[in-house]
Amino acid sequence: MRVLVTGGAGYLGSHTLLELMALNYEVCVLDNYSNATPEVLSRVRSLSNGTVTDYTGDVRDDAMLDRVMAEFRPDAVIHFAGLKAVGESAEKPLYYYDVNVGGTLAVVRAMERAGCNRIIFSSSATVYGEPTYLPYDEAHPTTPKSVYGQSKLMAERILTDWTVANGAASAVILRYFNPVGAHISGQIGEDPSDIPNNLMPYIAQVAVGKRDVLTIFGDDYDTPDGTGLRDYIHVVDLARAHVAALGYAVRHTGARPFNIGTGQSYSVRDIVAAFGRACGAEIPVRQAPRRVGDIAAMQADAGRAMRELNWKATHTLDDMTVSTWKWQSGNPDGYTR
Ligand code: NAD
Ligand code: UD1
Repeated sequence: MRVLVTGGAGYLGSHTLLELMALNYEVCVLDNYSNATPEVLSRVRSLSNGTVTDYTGDVRDDAMLDRVMAEFRPDAVIHFAGLKAVGESAEKPLYYYDVNVGGTLAVVRAMERAGCNRIIFSSSATVYGEPTYLPYDEAHPTTPKSVYGQSKLMAERILTDWTVANGAASAVILRYFNPVGAHISGQIGEDPSDIPNNLMPYIAQVAVGKRDVLTIFGDDYDTPDGTGLRDYIHVVDLARAHVAALGYAVRHTGARPFNIGTGQSYSVRDIVAAFGRACGAEIPVRQAPRRVGDIAAMQADAGRAMRELNWKATHTLDDMTVSTWKWQSGNPDGYTR
């Protein structure tokens, strides 16, 4: 099976390429390197000892998409390319809608022109917004609190309407919880280009000495230790969910959302403690007020993915922190950009 991976040089895309290649999928990447470096694909090639066709271009470029479709002739597209910073999305809403909504629209239109009917889409649990109940299942109301979340929900809508109009089309919508961790080789991992917004990469940079102290945002939540609870999912488990989703897309038409999480949640303090075990040193922390826009707890009901995709997360919290530390300590400055 031939799979076009947009945004394949990014954090989630690169790990997914390795899982696909291990199972002999033929892969092709379209990436504009706005948040990645070609070095990622060199490492993917050497780790897999395989071929990755790649195009440098933007997913909003119709001519480029037509060229990739004509030359690579994909059976399916995994659409990772997009923007993901919640704070930035409030400052640059038009840019976020252009890339995340316009980019998805351009990809689907190119697929339609080429007769490619299967797409796996990177959505986010952030589409749910403030929980009315937990764990979130896929029927939970969707009221995203950020422009970023809105852009993901709009893209989901476009894909859903497309499959209603095109009876041969299949859109598998994956709502990721909190992806963390790195490939077991320590050769690829998450490489934030700026100050990390997210907890795990921030802790990793403290552990390696690039930052002095982790700020814990809020210790007065209604949670067992007062800090925020999240459903962290190992990036390799998440990558494998895409392989499962491809199989599902071959067997089904229509659009269907799936939560991609473990169904378990950990607090900020749990993560700090686990990282301390992984790196063999205590992580310095300081307490600060809650971060604006944060919710107390998020947790997936991952039952639908288990039943229908036949997929389940298998990595533990220690797998997440140990692999992150292996990547960060081996690559203190990330990829050389
Ligand atoms: P990432 O930034 O590492 O990867 C995105 C890739 O897309 C990068 O390689 C970037 O260069 C590329 N890209 C961006 N805009 C592009 C464009 N217009 N044309 C072509 N390429 C473009 O991010 P990631 O963490 O790998 O996330 C992948 C997808 O998953 C994104 O759509 C993101 O919104 C979604 N997602 C991520 C998380 C997370 O925590 N990492 C959570 C939920 C959803
Ligand atoms: C954030 C985004 C969310 C996105 C997700 C991707 C916001 C408001 N939400 O979610 O839309 O889908 O990333 O994984 O940005 N924390 C600290 N100190 C830090 C960083 C984080 O204490 O320096 C805490 C947070 O308050 C939270 C937990 O760690 O309780 C996890 O934070 P983070 O990794 O940013 O993920 P989310 O808040 O779930």
